[in-house]
Amino acid sequence: MGLMHQEAQEFLSLCYEELGKSENEMEQRIKDVFQEIDEKGFYEHHFEELEYGAKMAWRNSNRCIGRLFWDQLHVLDKRYLKTEEAIYQALIEHIDFATNGGKIRPTISVFSQSISGETVRIWNHQLIRYAGYETEDGIVGDPDSIAFTNACIDLEWEPKYGQFDILPLVIQVNDNEPKWFNIPEDLVYEVSISHPEYEWFSALNLKWYAVPIISDMSLDIGGILYSAAPFNGWYMGTEIGARNLADDSRYNMLPTIADYMNLNNDRPSTLWKDRALIELNTAVLYSFKQAGISIVDHHTAAQQFKKFEEKEAKADRDVTGKWSWLIPPVSPATTHVFHKPYRDAIEKPNYFYQSKPYSQG
Ligand code: ARG
Repeated sequence: MGLMHQEAQEFLSLCYEELGKSENEMEQRIKDVFQEIDEKGFYEHHFEELEYGAKMAWRNSNRCIGRLFWDQLHVLDKRYLKTEEAIYQALIEHIDFATNGGKIRPTISVFSQSISGETVRIWNHQLIRYAGYETEDGIVGDPDSIAFTNACIDLEWEPKYGQFDILPLVIQVNDNEPKWFNIPEDLVYEVSISHPEYEWFSALNLKWYAVPIISDMSLDIGGILYSAAPFNGWYMGTEIGARNLADDSRYNMLPTIADYMNLNNDRPSTLWKDRALIELNTAVLYSFKQAGISIVDHHTAAQQFKKFEEKEAKADRDVTGKWSWLIPPVSPATTHVFHKPYRDAIEKPNYFYQSKPYSQG
């Protein structure tokens, strides 16, 4: 029995059991799948298997604190699409469906599996993200996007040198030259950041996009690898307020905010960074709420994760997790997650990092 046989059997047993199917149906399906693998070297998931496998993969995502909602993932089956243009249309549809006017829907689009002919890769880290440029006057935009932005420029995308330029979608099929496409502006929801008390905050001209859609990870279900399977949830406020806009290797806004707050930044011990951080995070949560865009604060998210742990225990499943990722970057010890260990074991189905298809230099 080959590795794919083994992984298929393991997945189908678990999947069919959880879906409440009969022993008979399970055994028949495994038999059929084995035969399909023997004949073609791979097999095709039924939609139901794909759908439930993608949900299981979310449930097994050790870095994610939002897993209470694993069962509510919307799975869009796009496996039959072959051309960059058709895939682009599907990505546009994903953005629109997931954004849902602000009431964000956790969604995944699954494109062709790598082995069955077409290998699809989306070069973007997230479908919606801001460009980053290294200029003579320093970095403009999101420093984390510099390598990908350069790859876009190499493909003849026109750089705009703004702080918040939406990058194009870059789609590659097989070894063909990748194609890039602009996202229609009206599809991209963005939130201008203002503060409930500090009037000056909006003058900082900060904003962030509404929906984080990770597009560079592969999805592994039962030995089948989907190399393009972009997925999204909604944001937890700290991702934006304590990392994207705050990290000194990202938008590095804490010194500016502390300045506006007239904080004494002579010494770290005045806790000026901490105080600026709290106000930035307050502003992010407040602004998303005002704009009617789904977002969760880290206290609520931790409570939801506790509920997930309880539900999993009831279902007799072990919750795995990566502690260093699960704890929120703001006030971690105020959440239960901080005070217990998690076993960082990799269960499948799952989402995996894959090597970047463009130069990192
Ligand atoms: N941390 C990433 C970002 O700030 C997004 C990762 C996925 N986050 C989520 N809430 N589903 O853009």
